[in-house]
Amino acid sequence: MSVRRLAPAEVQPASFAFSPENETWAQMVLTRYPAGKQASAVIPFLMRAQDQEGWVSKAAIETIADRLGMKHIRVLEVATFYTQFQLGPVGSVAHVQVCGTTPCMLRGSDEILHVCKNRIAPHAHELSADGKFSWEEVECLGACVNAPMVAVFSDTYEDLTKESFEALLDGFERGETPKPGPQNGRTGCEAEGGATTLNDPGLYDGTYRVNIVTGGGK
Ligand code: FES
Repeated sequence: MSVRRLAPAEVQPASFAFSPENETWAQMVLTRYPAGKQASAVIPFLMRAQDQEGWVSKAAIETIADRLGMKHIRVLEVATFYTQFQLGPVGSVAHVQVCGTTPCMLRGSDEILHVCKNRIAPHAHELSADGKFSWEEVECLGACVNAPMVAVFSDTYEDLTKESFEALLDGFERGETPKPGPQNGRTGCEAEGGATTLNDPGLYDGTYRVNIVTGGGK
């Protein structure tokens, strides 16, 4: 996993402020916490700043720290710990986070990373030539049973192959929002090829319930 650092000084904005709409939201959020506990709003504030600006700048981190009565280093620690926070500009259409942890690695995440390097940019956190795409490798995103998988902003795309991942990028390039979830026909995390347990129709047509009530078989 890459070291997470703030973006270079040349891309950092001089200041940060919530938009009027987000400022109204921020004031509402602060009412959720008892006096002196406003630091609890640090993650929602950072997420809102990212939603507003596309990424979390040094100015945003320091402004939020001051707003919540926290030391700058404390908010920097949060922003650099969680990979959900982008510390530099990302692709305007898709920032692809590729899980490279063991289950995804065993199921082909190297091929997904290979596509990213060839098709988006040679290195993580670099923008594609048109500025629309970027990528990075991250640790487990909690969908191991549908490995390999990627996250694009708030959505996850699972059960990927090199081909289905290429098709996913094609969709984003055409301006579509591909349907999130498994990309191999699974609807969830049932066994590939169909369910192998709990598939007796009697479980679902009332047979067993009737038998239990009447003292019948099964
Ligand atoms: S290992 Fe990839 S989602 Fe858990």
